[in-house]
Amino acid sequence: MSDEAAPGSVEIHHGDNLAVVAGFADASFTLIYLDPPFNTGRLQTKSIETARSRVTSPSESDAAASEAAESAVLAGAADATGLSSGTSASVPGDFRRGFHGREYERITGDLRAYDDRFDDYWGFLEPRLIEAWRLLADDGTLYVHLDYREAHYAKVLMDALFGRDKFLNELIWAYDYGAKTRKRWPTKHDTILVYVKDPARYWFDSDAVDREPYMAPGLVTPEKAERGKLPTDVWWHTIVPTTGREKTGYPTQKPEGILRRIVQASSRRGDRVLDFFAGSGTTGAVASALGRHAVLVDANPEAVAVMTARMPHAVVAGA
Ligand SMILES: C[S@@+](CC[C@H](N)C(=O)[O-])C[C@H]1O[C@@H](n2cnc3c(N)ncnc32)[C@H](O)[C@@H]1O
Repeated sequence: MSDEAAPGSVEIHHGDNLAVVAGFADASFTLIYLDPPFNTGRLQTKSIETARSRVTSPSESDAAASEAAESAVLAGAADATGLSSGTSASVPGDFRRGFHGREYERITGDLRAYDDRFDDYWGFLEPRLIEAWRLLADDGTLYVHLDYREAHYAKVLMDALFGRDKFLNELIWAYDYGAKTRKRWPTKHDTILVYVKDPARYWFDSDAVDREPYMAPGLVTPEKAERGKLPTDVWWHTIVPTTGREKTGYPTQKPEGILRRIVQASSRRGDRVLDFFAGSGTTGAVASALGRHAVLVDANPEAVAVMTARMPHAVVAGA
């Protein structure tokens, strides 16, 4: 195998991501992809309204197919690990004061007044996003994969936390799978928010991205139709097939096709890629195959077992 095709290294860490990444060096990753569990704070701090009870309510029956799995693993992760949700108290106050100070305090205050569940949600996510920002290289990019019920809160908060000028894209991953309600438009998309550490220096290589078929190939030249088109910010992509090479059995596993585009566009061969909600390790599998060096963190021992089986060349830190 030539060096050009050599897979990148994979390093797996087992533990609460906030504690694990505290030991990583500033600005040491070109790409960070985060896929936090839906509704984590509420699940861990409110015993009545758990993610599991929410998805079985009649008004949300359409979401059950895709989310039941997510809830199960969430409950599994929370139960198995006994993780605390993380608190804002652990966040260095300087970050908030230093970036957008009073504006940030005002926005978080308004959201808290609007929805008292906000504290739980943001209390978990905020310190982890602040760590991600610290770890991001000057030419780095942060992708945060969110549920449609959280995406808009998170967008406002991340704009305030990092600065609106750091916002690059809102990606919509659209799929078509599972039961569909007849009471509203069936919700079949996830949102991935993209922020760059420095708008003047971030790495983005659209030429490296797999192209997709034109919707109306007859309207373009045969050469263009043959080459395919550059994906836009709306990505139609199937969920992980229920059978086949890619499936690991981990309930919240994301498709390699989604991660491949992200890794191709926002990192180079030899760069370091971090995913600290790694789950089945999709980010690592894709990044390594593309010659990037992946660092993966998960608190769930089942995730670590799935990752090591999926990537036999991975090294488990401390093992
Ligand atoms: C939605 S899943 C990620 C799925 C992943 N993108 C994939 O393709 O398989 C979220 C993961 O975050 C992990 N997790 C939740 N809280 C955590 C924490 N505090 N520290 C580390 N991992 C955590 C869960 O165990 C779960 O595997």
